[in-house]
Amino acid sequence: MASPSKKLTDVFQNSHILREEAKTCVYFCIWKKLCPEKIFNYLTCNLNSLSQLVTFLANKETTMVYENVLATIGNTPLIRLDRVCKEIPGTILGKIEAFNPGHSAKDRIALFMVENAEKQGKIKPGDTIIEATSGNTGFSLAMICGMKGYKCVLTVTSKASQEKLALLRSMGAEVVVCPADVAPNDPRSYYSQAEQLACDTPNSYYLGQNYDLDNSNAHYHTTGPEIWRDTEGKITHFICCVGTGGSLSGTARYLKEQNPAIQIIGIDAYGSILKKYWETGTYDVAEIYPWKVEGLGKTIIPENVAFELIDDFVKVTDRNSAVRARQMALKEGLMLGYSSGAALEGVFKLRKHLKPEDVVVVLMPDHGSRYLGKIYNDDWMNQQGFLPTPTDELHQTSPYSYQHLKRIYKVYRRKYSRYIRQTLKI
Ligand SMILES: Cc1ncc(COP(=O)(O)O)c(C=O)c1O
Repeated sequence: MASPSKKLTDVFQNSHILREEAKTCVYFCIWKKLCPEKIFNYLTCNLNSLSQLVTFLANKETTMVYENVLATIGNTPLIRLDRVCKEIPGTILGKIEAFNPGHSAKDRIALFMVENAEKQGKIKPGDTIIEATSGNTGFSLAMICGMKGYKCVLTVTSKASQEKLALLRSMGAEVVVCPADVAPNDPRSYYSQAEQLACDTPNSYYLGQNYDLDNSNAHYHTTGPEIWRDTEGKITHFICCVGTGGSLSGTARYLKEQNPAIQIIGIDAYGSILKKYWETGTYDVAEIYPWKVEGLGKTIIPENVAFELIDDFVKVTDRNSAVRARQMALKEGLMLGYSSGAALEGVFKLRKHLKPEDVVVVLMPDHGSRYLGKIYNDDWMNQQGFLPTPTDELHQTSPYSYQHLKRIYKVYRRKYSRYIRQTLKI
């Protein structure tokens, strides 16, 4: 897609304004949520100086009135996580995607993918859009379908929380719940079910966030430029959960184009195959076992994961991810989702590699309201054995403590129970 920002930069170059100043203006347009294309003509006729442009833009966007809710997607804030990360060297900034109207980063991709499909004539209002989704893409898609006049059918795994399912239905989506613990190519899996529905439903379109590269393109055009602009190019590390890979890959591609030295760190779940695939290039079924963090990790290799852009991959546990999310709510006033806790746990695992001058941006994918029945519910936390005891500080437990050994035993039991069952054929 021809970037309007690029055209605008050319105009500035023709007008003999310094390239850096031109860039500043482009960022200013994005910051003010102005489409550079719309003011393109005005600029070519009226541009005399940078200050004149800035005044023009400031006057143009002084009110917060938007065309509709979709115009508020993106431009989420970076928030310092000084309290929760006080022992970690460097500046740690959370990119809080819960500020999107659908409360997650998936608003960006759903809008981008639907509008691109419309531009290519693949869909028209009245058609049915189908997607396999852990919940967030579903909510964003349902919101966009409602606004644009499409029907929305979503297949989800039984791992998705009840709150998430209720949210999807409240936005008018039809929800099909599929078993979580089946192989991706099993006809009962949520991927297979979505494909089957797309075959069976006339005038339907399968969005396919795992394989359609417009998923990562959405982040290339929005999340990446926003982070670069808001850190004034000072970002040194980008930490991001990997599910479909769209958030990490699109953002990383943009950031590496600006500065190839920026370190891209993927966060993966124990039980997912992604990290092993990145390390060895092999799809190792032995890696797969159930995990709890929704949206994080995969048992398939999505086309959207740009493995070559990843400098390091870190695996995090269900328990530590849940505890980190709760810490953020209490210490930072940020009630975020389970995978946001996983991303924060990733920062803690990397802390020995960070320096005081580093600027670390951590993508926090969604809001915590979707996990009231899980990580923000003491009963659920207790059932999982996740609630910390007063003597049990994360990463400070003795490796031989009863709590620690019990956790290790649980992880291994979960990991190998499938093989035991298969061997004994039960
Ligand atoms: C809550 C949550 N966190 C993280 C992710 C992973 O993001 P991505 O699919 O862009 O890799 C998802 C994706 O489904 C998600 O819903």
